[in-house]
Amino acid sequence: MSFNLLKGKKGIIFGALDEDSIAWKTAERIKEEGGEFILTNAPIAIRMGSVDELAKKTKSKLISADATKLDDLENLIKETMKIFGGKIDFVLHSIGMSVNVRKGKHYTDLNHDWMTKGWDVSAVSFHKLLQTLYKLDAMNEWSSIVALSYMAAQRVFPDYNDMADNKAYLESVARSFGYFFGKEKKVRVNTISQSPTPTTAGKGVKGFNNFIKYSEKMSPLGNATALDCANYTVAMFSDLTRRVTLQNLYNDGGFSNVGVSQDVIDIMSSID
Ligand SMILES: NC(=O)c1ccc[n+]([C@@H]2O[C@H](COP(=O)([O-])OP(=O)(O)OC[C@H]3O[C@@H](n4cnc5c(N)ncnc54)[C@H](O)[C@@H]3O)[C@@H](O)[C@H]2O)c1
Repeated sequence: MSFNLLKGKKGIIFGALDEDSIAWKTAERIKEEGGEFILTNAPIAIRMGSVDELAKKTKSKLISADATKLDDLENLIKETMKIFGGKIDFVLHSIGMSVNVRKGKHYTDLNHDWMTKGWDVSAVSFHKLLQTLYKLDAMNEWSSIVALSYMAAQRVFPDYNDMADNKAYLESVARSFGYFFGKEKKVRVNTISQSPTPTTAGKGVKGFNNFIKYSEKMSPLGNATALDCANYTVAMFSDLTRRVTLQNLYNDGGFSNVGVSQDVIDIMSSID
């Protein structure tokens, strides 16, 4: 199903690692909607993952960039403008990583060097990206930038660990930078807060399988899939959402506003 919502629009997609990645599904949907893009990921992810397949499939160029490195970001954005012969209409930041989560460190016993690394990759990289786009005056008026978040930024999810703090910071950067980007250049900046999704990053969180089941039972519409997230992002990149900015937008089947669901009460009552 295509509505040609992104016909003629050009952008950059960060974070497609393999076909489970939210960014992968988003790239496929953007292509179907008539958009063109440059794919990018960290050098090691390009070596280990399968993003080159996606590049072939979508007839897109792949440019390597570590999103924590300003030089890489500058090169990526300049190259993109050269390839497209002009400014950019959309950017997806779909990047997250916590060394503490990977290594199973408890939140009360964090390694703070690893914490700083995860914060840089998952949150500060968004500021670095926005700042580079801003300084290079790379975005068209009414263009749209989206980063992906999770509701642990607002509420406690014990095993989400230091990623909760990274997401809170990421959402704050979207608001703070979004103000200046809106005021000076009429560019929109938002975060989409997505349901738990079985991807490489998602499955890295301890207890993910039970957690995703719990979330499914709590959400009146069930968990939003990677494809649902891709569709929402397409809408946010389209001209139909021109005055939506500085928002954290929940794409979670209603989870964020439910205290407890009848399904969960029923499961609890079957326990005693
Ligand atoms: N999977 C979930 O349950 C879920 C839920 C809500 C939000 N999110 C968010 O969605 C986004 C995408 O994650 P995903 O679930 O598709 O997993 P994923 O593992 O497929 O994607 C994460 C991406 O981040 C990239 N990355 C890591 N370090 C990088 C760096 N230094 N420079 C550039 N790229 C780097 C990885 O290579 C990978 O492509 C993340 O921000 C994640 O936190 C995921």
